[in-house]
This record gives sequence, structure tokens and C-alpha cells, in this order.
Amino acid sequence: MFEVNQGIIQVSYIIATILFILALGGLSNQETARRGNWYGIVGMAIALVATLVGDVTQNLELLIVALLIGGSVGIIAARRVQMTQMPELVAILHSLVGLAAVAVGFANFMDPERLSHYVGVELTIHDVETYLGILIGAVTFSGSVIAFGKLSGRMSGNPLLLPARHWLNLLLLLGAIWFGYQFVQQSVAGGGIAPLVIMTIIALLFGIHMVMAIGGADMPVVVSMLNSYSGWAASATGFMLGNDLLIVTGALVGSSGAILSYIMCRAMNRKFLNVIAGGFGTGGGAAAKSGGQEGEVIPIDAQEAAALLGNAKEVMIVPGYGMAVAQAQHVVHEITTVLRDKGVNVRFGIHPVAGRMPGHMNVLLAEAKVPYDIVFEMDEINDDFPDVDVSIIIGANDIVNPSAQEEPDSPIAGMPVLEVWKGKTTIVLKRSMATGYAGVQNPLFFKENTRMLFGDAKDSLDNVFKAL
Ligand code: TAP
Repeated sequence: MFEVNQGIIQVSYIIATILFILALGGLSNQETARRGNWYGIVGMAIALVATLVGDVTQNLELLIVALLIGGSVGIIAARRVQMTQMPELVAILHSLVGLAAVAVGFANFMDPERLSHYVGVELTIHDVETYLGILIGAVTFSGSVIAFGKLSGRMSGNPLLLPARHWLNLLLLLGAIWFGYQFVQQSVAGGGIAPLVIMTIIALLFGIHMVMAIGGADMPVVVSMLNSYSGWAASATGFMLGNDLLIVTGALVGSSGAILSYIMCRAMNRKFLNVIAGGFGTGGGAAAKSGGQEGEVIPIDAQEAAALLGNAKEVMIVPGYGMAVAQAQHVVHEITTVLRDKGVNVRFGIHPVAGRMPGHMNVLLAEAKVPYDIVFEMDEINDDFPDVDVSIIIGANDIVNPSAQEEPDSPIAGMPVLEVWKGKTTIVLKRSMATGYAGVQNPLFFKENTRMLFGDAKDSLDNVFKAL
């Protein structure tokens, strides 16, 4: 193409990098998320143009056609996707990043000028970059395809637990290291394709096996982990191609995905390695064991619930996974508006892992146009429950389970929870006495100041709204 000043390209790359960092900063808060998205879009546009103008020397027409096709598919997919299908879309997009890293890796390896460009240590370093890029890319690719299959219901969400599966993983890992050594040895003499292909197959199998072993409900952690992998794969590709922007962008994606996985695991009081080792979270709620210390629950109907809410001064709404299932967010907003018009102080308490994906509740509440300034993070409002007259728990279970604090043997022991039981009255909306994601009974339901409003959350809230 035409000659462009390399300085301008470098400056464009730096501007794009800064915009990506601003985008991540913006996305960390719902009020600035829209702006964050714009920073990302502009940054990516600058990065694309700078790369096209600066780095592409041949076949620009082909590239533009590919960009148009890819861009159109992306726009159609993003327009069609429902909010609840977001994790599957993200999973399948990660698979493309992985596939691209594998394709670029092989293309780079097959470049006839590779051996004349690099010699000695430089060649070894370049080979290791290629090998790692393909390895991480292949794991990301096959893992993301399986994640997509599980999230979209095309495959069972149950964990596949092969006997000696940890040994199998270890074997695959050792195999990848051994073939890496073989690859670097053979590459100097112009060979190396066999170990590279064998490693790619191993990596694909590893990705499939790793995600197959993880239960449906743990998938959000896996998606964010694959997000992180896709970043590292891009970063390795950046090293391979000598492209600074790709290195930095990949590292940003890689580290932010890793941090998000860590935050999710901490909020669930799970160890990241335990999630990856698999075998937890089958996705469905089991019926609660009867008997034990629990005793009787006190059911109420929608009229009584409406009366309690109407007479309260301080109301806290705690949404959970069931609100998403019932799609009750719009009627929640209507009830909020009616109560606020009556002078009731209504606030929302959001647990960091309420629902099944990061920010799940915030997204639903934003979609229903609930004002941001009454939506609070758990840490901001957890001390306020003693002053709350009525807490209304909409399809949430684990995130309001006192046994996390009271029973050291509980599977959720140590998980931070919203202390709703400290309020005057708690109304719990759910369909049955079934457990939530963690599969543990919830003593909250049996407390003296708890009332159970049984039924689908949307139906129940429709009735409460009418009664109000
Ligand atoms: P859960 O503990 O899963 O409880 C949800 C409750 O909603 C269930 O007990 C269910 O009871 C009820 N429900 C389901 N459909 C309903 C409907 N249509 N109407 C009314 N109620 C309905 O959810 P949570 O409290 O939000 O906690 C989230 C859990 O998921 C945590 O254990 C967390 O660790 C885990 N997790 C979260 C994430 C992220 S990132 N958010 C990722 C992975 C795992 P019934 O069946 O009786 O109705």
C-alpha cells in the first residue's frame, strides 16, 4: 500500500491502547458503562484503520471483503441476541479469537521467510511464541465451543466426570510440554510440523475435556476464564507478529478476564482451581430435604404482601436468579414506582454473584429502567438491614442464606451474604422449597419474621402490584 509515517501508526496504537484502558474503567460502573463502550468502539476503529494502513502491504481488497462479511455477521448476531443469551454469544466469539490465534500461528510457522528472518535464540523465542499462541488458541477454541453448547442447551449442563480425569489432564499437559520441546528442536532444521499438529490436537482435547467437566451453573466463571485465555492467545499472537497493540490489548483482556474470574470465585467463596477441576453446580435446584432443624414456614398471599409493603417506610428489594427466570424486572420497577410515590424509601441490594452471570441483576434492572441511584452493592447496604421494615427477596436463595455465616460445614460457609434476616420482615418469593444453585437448604425461610409468597415471581408480583 502507500507509505505511511510509522510515527503516526505508533501514536494511533498508543491512543487506541489508552481508549481500551478507559473502556475497561468505564465498564466497571453501570452509569459510565455506555461511555466505556464508546471508548472501546472508537479505540477498535482506530486500531483497525492504523493496522490496515500501516501493516497491510498486499491483498487489501480481500481483507476489506473479509472485514465487511465479518462485520455484518457481528452486527446481525448482536442485534438478534436476547439478553439471556449474552453469555453464549460471548462464548462463541471467544472461540473465534482462539481459532484466529491457531490460524495465525500456523500461517506464521509456514511462512517461507521465517528461517531467514530469525536465527539462533531469536528463532527459538519466535517458535515458543508460535507454539504458545497455537496452544492457548486451541484450548480457547474448543473450550468455548463446548461452553457455547452447554449455555445454549445444545448439550447437557451436567459435569462429565471421567474416572482419573485429573491424571488425564496432567498427561495432556505433559504431552504438550514434550511436543513443545520436540517442536523447537525440529524447527531449526526446517521441520516441526508434526509436533505442532499433535500439540494442537492435544490442546483441542484438553479444552473439550476441561469445560465438559464443569457443571452448567459454573459456566459464567468458565466464560470469563476463556475470555482471559482468548486475551493471552491474542497477546502471544502479538509477540509472534511483533505487533505492540495486539500484545497490550491481549494482556488487557487476559488480565481483566482473570480478575473477573477471581472476583466471581471470591464472591461465591469457591477456589478458582476447584471450579476448573469441575464437578460442581449441576444447574438445577433440588427439592430441599425435609425435616432437620427447620420447622414450619409461614406462607402469605399477594394481598398480605402488598399490605406489608404499603405500610413500610424502608423497603429493600433483593433480586436473584428467579427474577431473571420469571422476567419479573418490569413489574418490580412498577411496584417500586408505586411505593416511592407513596413516600416509601425503596432500595435494591445486589449481591455480586446474584443470578448466573456478572452484573446479571444490574442489567435486568437497567433494562426495566430502575433508577441507578437506588441500586446498591452488597457492601454498601449490608449494615442497613436492621433499619429495613420489609425486605422482598425475588427468586434469590443462596445469596441470602444465613447458614453461610452460621454453619461452618455448609458448602457455602464463608460466602458473603445479604443479611436480610436482620430486618423486621422478610418476604421470600419462590415457587417451592427447592434449593438454589449451591443445593443447600436455607434457614431464612423458617425464621419467625420470614413470610413465603409461593409462585412464579412474575405472577406473584403482578398480583402484589394489583393489590397495591
Ligand atoms: P439461587 O441460589 O440459584 O436461587 C434461585 C432461586 O430462585 C431458587 O431457589 C428458585 O426456587 C427460585 N426461582 C427460580 N425460578 C423462579 C421463578 N420463576 N419464580 C420465582 N422463583 C424462582 O440464586 P441466587 O440467590 O441469585 O444466587 C446465585 C447463585 O448462583 C449463587 O450460589 C452463586 O454462587 C451462583 N453463581 C452465580 C454466578 C454469577 S456470576 N452471578 C455464576 C455462577 C454461579 P424455586 O425453584 O423454589 O422457585
